[in-house]
Amino acid sequence: MQVNDKVVVVTGGASGIGYELATRFKAEGAAHVAVADMNPHVVAVGKELGFIGEVVDVSDVAALTAFIDKVEAEAGPIDLFCSNAGIGTGMGIDADDDMWAAIWGVNVMAHVYAARILIPRMKERGGGYLLNTASAAGLLTNLGDAAYSVTKAGAVGLAEWLSITHAADGIKVSCLCPMAVRTPMTDSDDPAVANVVSHGMIETEVLADAVIAGLAAEELLILPHPEVAGFMQTKASAHEKWLHGMRKLQTSFFG
Ligand SMILES: NC(=O)c1ccc[n+]([C@@H]2O[C@H](COP(=O)([O-])OP(=O)(O)OC[C@H]3O[C@@H](n4cnc5c(N)ncnc54)[C@H](O)[C@@H]3O)[C@@H](O)[C@H]2O)c1
Repeated sequence: MQVNDKVVVVTGGASGIGYELATRFKAEGAAHVAVADMNPHVVAVGKELGFIGEVVDVSDVAALTAFIDKVEAEAGPIDLFCSNAGIGTGMGIDADDDMWAAIWGVNVMAHVYAARILIPRMKERGGGYLLNTASAAGLLTNLGDAAYSVTKAGAVGLAEWLSITHAADGIKVSCLCPMAVRTPMTDSDDPAVANVVSHGMIETEVLADAVIAGLAAEELLILPHPEVAGFMQTKASAHEKWLHGMRKLQTSFFG
């Protein structure tokens, strides 16, 4: 996948990784880049990119459908849809049920909705590309945030399922799994959280380089932190050893 001349959508495009990806795709020659976000700043980002920037709750399937319909009515078929919007709780299992429902809605169901809306359309026109932002947390857990770990693991599982099930329909899928990236999400005053997220912190520009290369390679996992592949190998080949190391990290960060 090369983004030049393509119609691209990025959710969570008002901030952080989504903003960086949207502006990079435009700089790489995308024909149109549409952005959706809950943050009203998305309207200004849309103006900057010269196309649609709209306030949309991606966990609301009706709102997401209307947004996708609008983009396709104005720009034609979406070639690359990036389900990137995401939230954390910063909490363990004590996050209340409303928080669990909200994070499930954004981190998992928004990816399901985008796939459900777009795959039949993409299949009919011979193919399309879904880029779903999960996290290294989905492969390796996130110290301190239970719901984030669980939902990002769900997002990885969904991306794998979509890739396996719909490859024959011409649907290509990548799953972006970074560790820490410097964005508003990782800008925490809590010293323990700051300690966790500072590990291997990269800038959004570095992440965007990895995304452009990952899309060109059309591989499922995009790992802007290459060391994640090694951690996954340890997890798969010596699971108890991996758990032991993670428990030690947990104690060193949170006591
Ligand atoms: N920053 C990191 O270290 C890091 C690491 C791994 C994965 N990620 C993932 O990358 C993605 C982007 O995160 P970021 O770091 O840029 O954070 P960010 O907070 O800067 O951006 C996330 C954006 O998503 C938007 N959003 C949240 N809920 C929404 C909803 N219901 N509908 C529409 N928009 C919504 C927010 O308004 C925000 O603009 C997220 O999925 C996040 O989980 C981030």
